[in-house]
Amino acid sequence: MKNNPLPRLDTSPEMRDRLLPHCRLKPGQVWQDPDGKHRVGCLDSTDAKAVAGLVGGSDPALAIQDPPYNLVAFERRSIEEYIDWSRRWIQITHAVLAKNASLYVWLGADQNDGFQPLADFMIVMREQPFAPRSFITMRNQRGYGTQKNWMAVRQELLYYTKGSPEFNVEAEYTDIPKILRGYYKEVNGVVTENLERGKSDTIRAGNVWVDIQQVFYRMEENVSGCYAQKPLKCIERIVRASSQKNDVILDFFAHSGSTLLAAEILDRRCITADVDPICCEITIRRLEQYRRSGRLGWQNGHPFEKEIPGFVEDSGYEIQDESRLPSVQPTLFG
Ligand SMILES: C[S@@+](CC[C@H](N)C(=O)[O-])C[C@H]1O[C@@H](n2cnc3c(N)ncnc32)[C@H](O)[C@@H]1O
Repeated sequence: MKNNPLPRLDTSPEMRDRLLPHCRLKPGQVWQDPDGKHRVGCLDSTDAKAVAGLVGGSDPALAIQDPPYNLVAFERRSIEEYIDWSRRWIQITHAVLAKNASLYVWLGADQNDGFQPLADFMIVMREQPFAPRSFITMRNQRGYGTQKNWMAVRQELLYYTKGSPEFNVEAEYTDIPKILRGYYKEVNGVVTENLERGKSDTIRAGNVWVDIQQVFYRMEENVSGCYAQKPLKCIERIVRASSQKNDVILDFFAHSGSTLLAAEILDRRCITADVDPICCEITIRRLEQYRRSGRLGWQNGHPFEKEIPGFVEDSGYEIQDESRLPSVQPTLFG
């Protein structure tokens, strides 16, 4: 079986040095989709002028922001610095969003450190001109924990609005069939059963999402090298609930390009950015590959296979084709 992943880009400076020359955007540059739908900018989301140039009065109806969480994956800042930094990109988001728009923010809570930055972020949002709407939890399949604590399996998603955007409630239904019977209620003098009363045969997602598979290397949508990729299914749910066809969707932290790909699949337009030219390149290549082949990611391959055809992480051994892979005999007892 082909198995040619990239190592995690945040912890592999050598690999980053090899990939950078293959990235078409330098800091400050913008990629324009030849099909005229999307834009990708290589910029810092706290640079108001650069963001205004990227967005260019396009009135986004929805922003889906997934900033670094101040946890292990990124260079850690003090919580004060992190919150100051967050305040800046939130204000910029507000300035460029349409009059009636929705904002979703993914954020983590460090249970070993006062649940930062989520708790602090929620408080800062109280001073911002967004109205709080929902606090959603998505359940991961893999967790982290010890034998002495509850296993941590949650990802938090905050939903805010500016003005009064629409909410498409149909998008709230999952694929999970309704099976709860025997819950009767009188409606207009008629006793009805739970299933008769519902608008759908499936259950609503509500604000706890348990039906979304976390991305891992065996999934088609996997983008190896990316360490913080969100599943397309959750992005699609947000896009369906809080935007219409042809709307513009904003994402300041593109990473693997999940928001842009969901926008393409659902006939929306996406304006996205990342401070890292490698993430910008991956985002663009993911869209290009989808348009060419319908594939959603690279599973056991990676976006730079043409330039770096074979790489075995542990040994650093380079291969040109699979037949030259060193043979590894699995043994039962090590
Ligand atoms: C948690 S990841 C986003 C994951 C993304 N939603 C996905 O599904 O692939 C955060 C991204 O923010 C980028 N980033 C960090 N600081 C930034 C900044 N100041 N401006 C723009 N992007 C930044 C990082 O390079 C990283 O790719």
